[in-house]
Amino acid sequence: MKNLLNVLRDDDVETELMQVIETIIDASKEIAFRVRQGALAGVLGSTQDENIQGETQKHLDIISNQLFKDLLLACRPVAALASEEEDTVVEANPTGKYLVAFDPLDGSSNIDINGQIGTIFSIYRALDLIPHHSEMQFHQQGSQQVCAGYVLYGPSTLLAITTGKGTRCFTLDSTQGNFLLTADKIQIVQDTQEFAINMSNSRFWSEDMRCYISDLTLGETGPRQKRYNMRWNAAMVGDVHRVLTRGGIFLYPSDNRNAKQPAKLRLLYEANPMAMLTENAGGRAWSEQQRILEIQPQQLHERVAVILGSANEVDECLSYLQR
Ligand code: AHG
Ligand code: MN
Ligand code: MN
Repeated sequence: MKNLLNVLRDDDVETELMQVIETIIDASKEIAFRVRQGALAGVLGSTQDENIQGETQKHLDIISNQLFKDLLLACRPVAALASEEEDTVVEANPTGKYLVAFDPLDGSSNIDINGQIGTIFSIYRALDLIPHHSEMQFHQQGSQQVCAGYVLYGPSTLLAITTGKGTRCFTLDSTQGNFLLTADKIQIVQDTQEFAINMSNSRFWSEDMRCYISDLTLGETGPRQKRYNMRWNAAMVGDVHRVLTRGGIFLYPSDNRNAKQPAKLRLLYEANPMAMLTENAGGRAWSEQQRILEIQPQQLHERVAVILGSANEVDECLSYLQR
């Protein structure tokens, strides 16, 4: 089986970008080890602190963020970092060519229940005409990402990654410490009978979104004429991994719970990388009115609605929203 670095070399990924990816991989291997150790490594439980988004930080959120920060700041080609757990941009090397945005620990509510959790990352080229640590560096559309991926800390540790030449999956061989290619050029099936959404929020959705989901639940005799099943991991990494593996549609729609926060998932380090992985696997990734990768970011931690997965099902959903 080919290992990650050989695959990236075959794709002619430039050396400095390889260094950034290797650094991300090293940090995630360290997190994977601690996740496996669980309570023995002191990674369970919450701190007394909140991040800038008003969410209570878990110990593992902090540990993962610190590991990523320490390793990426020591990686020469990195110019600046943006993290879910950092209020503002973190300055790295002024001569670095790359920017990294990341969600160090996705699915935090699953940490203490031994459920699926992961790390999501996105890499951009730093812009020449802007100071290297300016927030404006990160106001690039998702279509400008040069690499996107996630590491899923599940029963096995998996890396899904794309540099724009297809989406691949690698499994961590813990005997050697290498990520080995286990799914090449993934193609998400175009049709599906599986959806993922947090149904408990339905009263806050738009009427059109409620109608779409309701039609999915009506089965063979409903307008969609097939029986759908529902799954919800409460960790985007787990849900998106299922979509890449066997198809499906994943939704976190906008809602009217809180006027200041009309959506939950963050554009820079959740929606954009997952959209790049999905599109590179032949799926679709939209934010209700717009392709996610075409959204012009306005803020570091901005949130967007997410609808992604099997192409025909995403189109069907969008047709309800465009009625
Ligand atoms: P994070 O743990 O990084 O804050 O992200 C959690 C996100 C995402 O992974 C998941 O899809 C969603 O929040 C779960 O939301 P619910 O609490 O509504 O299930
Ligand atoms: Mn997250
Ligand atoms: Mn997180």
